[in-house]
Order: sequence, then C-alpha cells, then structure tokens
Amino acid sequence: MLRTKWVHLGGVFPALIAGVLLFCGCGEAPQTPQDKGTKPGQAGATPVVAKPVPGEQGKQPAGIRIGFVVKQPEELWFQNEWKFARVAAEKYGFELLTLGASDGERVLNVIDTLGTKGAQGFVICTPETRMGPAIMARAQKYAMKVIAVDDQFVGADGKFMQVPYMGLSAREIGRNVGKALWAEMRRRQWPPAETAACVVTHDELNTVKERTDGAAEALVEAGFPAERIFRSNEREMILPSAHEAASIVLTQHNDVKYWLVFSVNDEGVLGAVRALGERGLGADRTIGIGIGAGTGLLELKKETPSGFFGTVMISPYRHGYETTEMLYKWIKDGVAPPLDTRTAGVLATRENYKQVIKDLGLEDVAGDK
Ligand code: GLA
Repeated sequence: MLRTKWVHLGGVFPALIAGVLLFCGCGEAPQTPQDKGTKPGQAGATPVVAKPVPGEQGKQPAGIRIGFVVKQPEELWFQNEWKFARVAAEKYGFELLTLGASDGERVLNVIDTLGTKGAQGFVICTPETRMGPAIMARAQKYAMKVIAVDDQFVGADGKFMQVPYMGLSAREIGRNVGKALWAEMRRRQWPPAETAACVVTHDELNTVKERTDGAAEALVEAGFPAERIFRSNEREMILPSAHEAASIVLTQHNDVKYWLVFSVNDEGVLGAVRALGERGLGADRTIGIGIGAGTGLLELKKETPSGFFGTVMISPYRHGYETTEMLYKWIKDGVAPPLDTRTAGVLATRENYKQVIKDLGLEDVAGDK
C-alpha cells in the first residue's frame, strides 16, 4: 500500500487555492444513474476504525467525534483525504474516526459503528451513490449530520440529493485533460489519422462520466476525430480493471500507431499505460493524462518516462480538511455548509510537477520534502 507523509499546512493552503474555489447550484440530474450492487470480497471490505488522534481526547470542546468513510481505503487519494482530515482534527481538537466501506451493506454497518461510538456526524464517499436515501435514513437514526464527498448521493427519483456535497468540477477538469492531450499531440506532430484515444471510464458514476465526456468533448472541439475515441468501461475503479478495459480496446485496434489515454483518475490511465507498455507502446507512442494527487506523481518521478505524461492535480486538502472542518463547525456552531462545493485542478507534468505541488502546498505528496 502506498503511503506518503504530509505536513500540517495551517491556513496557508486555503489562500493559495482560493482562486480555484467555485460554489455552484445543486441538483443537476445525473445522466445514467444506476445501482451498482454490492461487491463482496473487494479489497478494503473490512471496516477500519482508526485510533483517535493521539493526545486530543482531553481537549475536545464538546466531545465532538467525526467519521470519515471512504469507498476505497486502498486508493492513495482516499488515504490523503484522511491525512488532511487528521490535520483538521488536530487543529480543532475533535476525534476523527476513519472507516472504509466498499459496498452498501458495509456502509450501513459503519454508520452503526459511528452511531454507537457517539459520533455526531460523518463525511462519506459512498461506494454506491444510490445508497444516498438509506445512508441518510440510517444517519438520522443517530441524529448524525452528513457531508458527501467525491461521489454525490442520488435519490430514488434519480436526481442528486440535497445533501451538502464537495466534489470536483468534473466536466471542466475533463476538458483540461482533453486540451492538454491535444496540445501535446500537436507538439509531437502526430497525424490524427494515425492516432486514437483509449478511454477507461465507469459511466454509471456521474463524476466519472463528466470527466471522460469533458475530455472527449474538448478533443473533438479541437479537431480530433470523434470516431477515433474508443471508450471502455472498467468494472471497478482500480488499476487491474483499467488494464482489462484498455486491453479490449487495444486488441480491437491493434493497427493504431499513437495513443492518447484518459480516464477518471490516475489509476485508470496507469492501467491503460501498462497495457500499452506490454504491447511495446511506450512514452514515444502514448500520451496519458490522469486526474489525481499522488499515484500519478509517483509515476512522473520515476527515472524512465512511461506513457503517463501528466496528471491534473486535484486537492485532497480541500476534500479532506475542508469537509471535516465544515462538519465540525456545523456540529459545534450550527453553521450549515454550502450544498454544493466544486474544486478545480492544475496540470502537472514531468516538466512542472515540482512547482505545481509547491504552489498547492502539497510537496510531500511526491516525497519531495
Ligand atoms: C472519485 C474517484 C476517485 C477520485 C475522486 C475525486 O471518487 O473514484 O479516484 O478521483 O472521485 O473526487
């Protein structure tokens, strides 16, 4: 499991990223919401209850306990959200309980765990967005407040629920990926007729579809042939599933000379880049751009470049620190958080990633500090 060391960022980082803060309206309907169903045996299935932040128990103002539940605790993004949530816990002196729940049944179990431990609320990236109503009903049983992070709850009517949410400006971030792919392809003078795009997606999750649609849209607007964009759905959002999904595309189109790759996250792009690498298509024949804050940077740091060209850096600080801070203030002072908060991203490549992570106050993400 990948682990990184993080620093306490105090109040500096929020000022640095203030320019990318975007508050939107809420309630836009997802395009293809579906219930994913449970996934028995998936990694991270066992609820993990972390120890309270050491030394903080004595100074909790009102014994505030906050849970942070994530769908994939093995993914670096979620580990980093937890790290920044711990920074908030240290600053405000609340107790943080970090838990993993990879399917619907486990989500309800961890909510029970939080309820019996006396938590007053939790932040959650649910493994199934259609679980929103069930999650809210279970939270209500314990009078717990809820903030959704990353993946937005979908109600029985198929619309997004009116529950405070922080997520990516997914379409815009996707568009940035598409523009950067086009710019690099042009720089290398690859003819569109000899180039294709391999897209690893997971369309039942709205934030994913928005990202991959956004990238495709920007490419086509720039002049990339729409019929040379090949989408493949990954079963789970993990590297091996991405590898599998990309392999199908690559087998069907083994005459393509150059490849662009995009996906929901770094893991999705890396799965495709590995599949390409196994076919002898490396850095000179592939441009892959991810979305993330960790896994992709580790790839960029490797001495020998792969087809993983860059990543749009997103902010685990905002999704981890700010969500728990909002929840804490909601519980303690009754200040309700905004219903819909969207965060942005910045492209990082081998050329500029050190500067980008410095600007974002995230040096430790790539082990540079
Ligand atoms: C989804 C993805 C994660 C990460 C977050 C960011 O939950 O599964 O990999 O990209 O969005 O909000």
